[in-house]
Amino acid sequence: MTVLVTGAAGYLGNQTVKKLLALGRPVRALARRRAKAAERLGDVAEQIEIVEGDVTLPASLKPAMQNVSAVIHYVAIAMEKGGQTYEEVNYQGTVNVLQAAEAAGVKRFINMSQNGARADLPYRFLASKGRAQEVVASSNLAWTALRPSAIFGPQDEFFNSFARLLKVTPLVFPLIGGGRALFQPVSVYDVVEAVIRCLDDDSAVGKELTLGGPEVLTLGEIERRIIKAMNTWRLLLPVPVVCLRPPVMLMQALLPGSPVSTSLLDLLDLPNTVTDNALVNHFGMKPIPFSGEHIAYLKDNTLGDALAKFLRNATIN
Ligand SMILES: NC(=O)c1ccc[n+]([C@@H]2O[C@H](COP(=O)([O-])OP(=O)(O)OC[C@H]3O[C@@H](n4cnc5c(N)ncnc54)[C@H](OP(=O)(O)O)[C@@H]3O)[C@@H](O)[C@H]2O)c1
Repeated sequence: MTVLVTGAAGYLGNQTVKKLLALGRPVRALARRRAKAAERLGDVAEQIEIVEGDVTLPASLKPAMQNVSAVIHYVAIAMEKGGQTYEEVNYQGTVNVLQAAEAAGVKRFINMSQNGARADLPYRFLASKGRAQEVVASSNLAWTALRPSAIFGPQDEFFNSFARLLKVTPLVFPLIGGGRALFQPVSVYDVVEAVIRCLDDDSAVGKELTLGGPEVLTLGEIERRIIKAMNTWRLLLPVPVVCLRPPVMLMQALLPGSPVSTSLLDLLDLPNTVTDNALVNHFGMKPIPFSGEHIAYLKDNTLGDALAKFLRNATIN
C-alpha cells in the first residue's frame, strides 16, 4: 500500500522518497507546488505520484490521503517567512494532516518531531513542534514520533549554513556564544533509515524515539570540524550570543535567504543532546559520526552558492 510523505520535496522528504522507491514501496508525495517538487526530486519524480496540498488548508489534504496505508509527516518550518507561522504550519498543519489521515482510515502515522520539542517551552519553534506531537500522541492512529538532534548530510541546512557563512567571512569567524552550546549531530541517512524501519515495526508504535549521532559535540568543535572539512583556516573569535542578535536581526531584515534567525539563536540556550539514543537502543544501529568523509560535502559550498542562497529566498533540496 502507498506511503504518503508530506514535505516530500524537502530535505528529509527527498531522501525518504528515494529510499522508499529503492525498496520498491509505492510512494505519494505531498507538496505545495508539483513543478517545484518534481524539479527538486529529479529523476525519481517520474516514478511517484505527486499530489498538491498545503497543510494549512485542510480541504487540500483529502485527495492525498486516498488509499494510503501510512503517512510520514515531515512538513514544518524552522524559520517564519513568506507569511507562514510556526503556529499555522508546525502545530495546526500537523493537526490538519492527522485529522485528514484519521478521516481516510490511514493506519500508521510517523511524525517527525524534534529533539527538545515541548509544548510548555518559551521557545516558539520548539513549543509549536511539542504541541503538535501532543496532538499526535492523543490520536487513535498507530503513531510513532522521531525526535532527532541536528541533522547533517549533503544539502542539510544547518551545517551548510556555517559553511556558506565561512565563505563570506575571511580570516575571522565568530565562535558563537563561546562555542559552548551542545549538539549530537545525526546523519540524515540514519534518520531516514529509522523512519522507514518504523513503518514495519510494531514495537515502535506509541513511542517517541530520540535520535542522535555517536558523539556529543560543542558548537566550537562543530565549527572547527566544518572549517577542517572545508580545507580552510579561520581565527575563531568568541562572541556572546547577545552581541550576535543585532547582526542577525539585520540579516533577517535584509536577506531573503537569511541563514539564521533570532528565534534559532535562542535555541542555543538548550543542549540539543540525546539521553536515550533510539538509533542504538531501539534500532540497534551504529550511528554515522560527524567527521571525515561523512562531512566532506561541506567543501562543495562555493562563494557563489553562498551569495545566491542568502540573496534569494532560501530553498532546500
Ligand atoms: N533538518 C534538521 O536538522 C531537523 C532536525 C530535527 C527535526 N527536523 C524535522 O524534520 C522535518 C523535515 O525537516 P527538513 O529539514 O526536511 O525540512 P525542509 O527541507 O524545510 O522541508 C520541509 C518541507 O515542507 C514543505 N512545506 C512548508 N510549508 C508547507 C505547507 N504549508 N504545506 C505543505 N508543505 C509545506 C516545504 O515545501 P516548500 O518548498 O513548498 O516550502 C518543504 O518541502 C521537520 O518536521 C523538522 O522539524 C529536522
